[in-house]
Amino acid sequence: MQNQIQNNKLQILGKLSAGLTHEIRNPLSALRLNLDYLSISADEYGDEAREAIRASLEAVERISTMIESVLEFSRKATTERSMHNLNDVITTGVGIMSPAAAMRAVSITCDLNKKLPDSQFNRNKVLQVLINLLTNSIEACDKGGKVKVKSSIDDGWLKIHVQDDGCGIEECNKEKIFSDFYTNKRTGTGLGLSVSRSIIEEQGGTITYKSSPQKGTTFYVSLPIKYNEEKN
Ligand SMILES: Nc1ncnc2c1ncn2[C@@H]1O[C@H](COP(=O)(O)OP(=O)(O)O)[C@@H](O)[C@H]1O
Ligand SMILES: [Mg+2]
Repeated sequence: MQNQIQNNKLQILGKLSAGLTHEIRNPLSALRLNLDYLSISADEYGDEAREAIRASLEAVERISTMIESVLEFSRKATTERSMHNLNDVITTGVGIMSPAAAMRAVSITCDLNKKLPDSQFNRNKVLQVLINLLTNSIEACDKGGKVKVKSSIDDGWLKIHVQDDGCGIEECNKEKIFSDFYTNKRTGTGLGLSVSRSIIEEQGGTITYKSSPQKGTTFYVSLPIKYNEEKN
């Protein structure tokens, strides 16, 4: 019963956040319009005012990108498999998780291989995996912790590494962590890794990890590079 209650809560939360982000969109575009209007006559203001308008527009853009990413993520799961670039998905995932990391004084850095080819996969599902892995890494870190995300290509596979210098995983838990509902957190759901593994396997990939207690953990995701079979 506890699990059902928790799942129901997550569903409600999902709906609430989708509603909330929709509601933020309208006032946000009003803000952008007004700022655009002000910047038209920017020549009449002093440097400080001009800078204030520019910084406000930039902040509006940041919120807007965030809102669009959350909305995209909260859309219903589909079987969509178009051509995507993994680096874009990583950038979106890191963008979504940055505020949570900053709140815990954890830094996230990226080392992305610019030469990754586009590949066919379900963007939203891979984004979900990234958010799960980043969330776990951030939660494993103490203040000042470091999370690194790396992308690379290896012999027909796209690779993602999510590395943290957090608490690590005890040897005795190594098999358990991918099981449904296994968690050692007071407020955990224990679903992040089991869902991530099934998503990655559904996309024809693999997910593994290496960990040293007290030192940190790295998760490795591999996805097969797939080109569009039919050319339109
Ligand atoms: N990066 C990590 N560092 C340390 N422990 C981790 C990490 N990722 C996962 N774990 C362990 O695996 C468990 C299961 O993770 P997950 O399925 O995401 O559930 P939850 O995060 O809700 O606990 C966590 O409770 C934690 O014990
Ligand atoms: Mg988790």
